[in-house]
Amino acid sequence: MEILSAAIAPVDWSGDGLVLAVFGSGKETLPLSEALADLDKSVLGGTLTELIAETEFKGEAGSSVGGRVGGASPIRKVLLVGLGDPSKATTDTWRKAGAQALRWGNQQKCKTLAIACPLYNEDQPLTAQTIAEGILLANHQDKRFRSEPKNGEPTVARVELLGLDDQSEAIATAQTIVQGVILTRELVSAPANIVTPSKLAETAQEIANSSPLISAEILEQEDCAKLGMGAFLGVSQASALPPKFIHLTYKDGTGTAPQKKLALIGKGLTFDSGGLNLKTGAGSSIELMKIDMAGAAAVLGCAQVIGQLRPQGIEVHFIIAACENMISSSAMHPGDILTASNGKTIEVNNTDAEGRLTLADALVFADKLGVDAIIDLATLTGACIVALGDSVGGLWSTSDELASELEQSAKLAGEKIWRMPLEESYFEQMKSVVADMKNTGSRSGGAITGALFLQKFVENTKAWAHLDIAGPVWTEKESGYNNAGGTGYPVRTLVNLLLGYAITQH
Ligand code: BES
Ligand code: MN
Ligand code: ZN
Repeated sequence: MEILSAAIAPVDWSGDGLVLAVFGSGKETLPLSEALADLDKSVLGGTLTELIAETEFKGEAGSSVGGRVGGASPIRKVLLVGLGDPSKATTDTWRKAGAQALRWGNQQKCKTLAIACPLYNEDQPLTAQTIAEGILLANHQDKRFRSEPKNGEPTVARVELLGLDDQSEAIATAQTIVQGVILTRELVSAPANIVTPSKLAETAQEIANSSPLISAEILEQEDCAKLGMGAFLGVSQASALPPKFIHLTYKDGTGTAPQKKLALIGKGLTFDSGGLNLKTGAGSSIELMKIDMAGAAAVLGCAQVIGQLRPQGIEVHFIIAACENMISSSAMHPGDILTASNGKTIEVNNTDAEGRLTLADALVFADKLGVDAIIDLATLTGACIVALGDSVGGLWSTSDELASELEQSAKLAGEKIWRMPLEESYFEQMKSVVADMKNTGSRSGGAITGALFLQKFVENTKAWAHLDIAGPVWTEKESGYNNAGGTGYPVRTLVNLLLGYAITQH
């Protein structure tokens, strides 16, 4: 599918479906602007006036009304999309409008579509980019595991964004970002018999091969053993599949010292059975635990985007300790004591708190790289879903600055995060009789104790942030620009953060 910007007005466009996105008070029936009234009279034969009056369309966010334009009109069908109150509009208002337009166009079997809408913040590139993101994200259908497409073949082949100057660069950026989000979505949606630790390593290698600025280093089990990664390898030890420790490095290629160095770490459990503390019962969602590598998938999606956008002035390390948490006669016993690569000993009082064990060694590895900041992303706890629900990720950080940069980046991305406390007193719960610490505390504050555990493995790096993304990485239902399955959260946030640190991009 092709997306273009066109400087023409809706009155001068001809094609199958015209989408007009409009702000509305949500209180009174939409009054037509002069331009729309003109369009209605000269091209649409009064269809807009009739639709608005008959349905009492108020332009509320998410609402829409559409219909067939009769007679010899150069436009076959028209859709009004409400953007709601302009003071409440965010970038996501435009992403969702783009998605709504595309979904309607496909339902109506349109081949050519045009969208006319007001600007976000008077910003043409950002308006074009966010609409294009919404269109492309909604357009993504995961056809890999079906013999026939779910909703029939989509018909829309071309979308024109009307009333904009040439925004091909912004649209290309949207394409690159969405390709990264789609990579992440598809890694998350694929089952554990397809996405194995080796598959994650191969995907990382492919990302490195496709960008001259990214290099790949894959550590095998023996390499990890030499580095003393006892916590990571303890989790992996019951699996028939070999673990892979993945390290991609992005350098801008200028040869000058970067102004910012970062490490992104993603939890990469390609399946989490719980181990001998097996996930049992309906609430445990064992059948969903293919998603337990969503942090890793987001790191890879972000790496692909950065490798293509090639921002200058930053160095980024993408790190994944990939393995499975399984059961067999070689499984960790509950109560086993593991030694992580920084020498700290951990009593595994629950083998289902495995993510933090793998992350411990990944954090120690990142902590030795001399980066300015480490950010880890993990489907770490069910407790975070209890606290924040399905669509908000939890954020913990040792740096107010990093936390607020993440919050800003997330806002711009339309991805929701909420800062949570590193309440040190709760670490009491993880004191062990025999080892330096246990890997779990009590049920209460479970997402916080998860974060506190991780913090013990960051000793040198000034700024660290942990994102618990267990909720928002997956959705059972289509909504907005997301389709059912992996959502690709929080790739756009990470990309925004990294681009924010860069000098320029080309
Ligand atoms: N992978 C799970 C967390 C999870 C739950 C992710 C639901 C996505 C959806 C994690 O490894 C886990 O099992 N956490 C335990 C921690 C507990 C044993 C302290 C949990 O949340 O119950
Ligand atoms: Mn677990
Ligand atoms: Zn897990």
